[in-house]
Amino acid sequence: MDKRPIGVFDSGLGGLTVLKEIRKLLPEESVIYFGDNGRTPYGTKSKQTVIKYTRQIVSFLLSMDVKLLVVACNTISALALPELRPSIHVPVLEVIEPGSVSALKKTRTGRIGVIATPATVTSGVYREAIHHRNPGVLIFQKACPLFVNLVEEGWWDNEITRMVATEYLTELKSESIDTLVLGCTHYPLLSEAIRKVMGDGVVQVSSAEELAIALKELLKAQSLYAAGASANYQYYTSDSVEKFEELGKLILGEKIDNVHRVDLDCRA
Ligand code: DGL
Repeated sequence: MDKRPIGVFDSGLGGLTVLKEIRKLLPEESVIYFGDNGRTPYGTKSKQTVIKYTRQIVSFLLSMDVKLLVVACNTISALALPELRPSIHVPVLEVIEPGSVSALKKTRTGRIGVIATPATVTSGVYREAIHHRNPGVLIFQKACPLFVNLVEEGWWDNEITRMVATEYLTELKSESIDTLVLGCTHYPLLSEAIRKVMGDGVVQVSSAEELAIALKELLKAQSLYAAGASANYQYYTSDSVEKFEELGKLILGEKIDNVHRVDLDCRA
């Protein structure tokens, strides 16, 4: 048994969609969440920059004595994790594998769409992870760079968001996919706007649920479970505490306090 917190991080608010599932499935686990809202989006930045930012976040969370890290960001999982993982001394979970497993469980026709940041799409990680398990599946990818900014702005289902979704997704819709991977942890917050374009016949899948299940198994297997403990949540953002509290409350469905601002540039 290990009562130390789990470190969960993202380029901004998107990782809270993952945290929500973790809290649901593992209510006894304490979490320290870091959102790099001040430097988001990551998905349009270079690999070198994403690695640099990720190194700072990992070092910050490890300094808080976390027992495990959850990379609640596809872009970081795709670009920075392969390079940084060997130097991280705690177990690390990422989001690409769970998202791919989820999509393969859901598809009936073997035609899967993947929407993600430009960096994630270009890296080809989803194609690789899905084809590794089932080479016969057809994959159609589309980068949706503006989606992250719309989420960070709190514009989850307004007219502009629906226009942007129509622009990005119309071509994908014509490919007759039956499953759509939301390959960015911000995108589940736009699920209604996405549904309005793609229709009810397309199943949207995200990594959050599968990741929480994998996390539970890992905690048990490595005796890291905080059984019987009362959970504590701390939040850190590199931007406005007020904005994080306001939008975080909408995502998690409850008021959040214990939010602090931290500037990782000053700590590097
Ligand atoms: N939530 C991040 C992801 O899953 C968004 C990346 C970004 O900041 O562009 O990729």
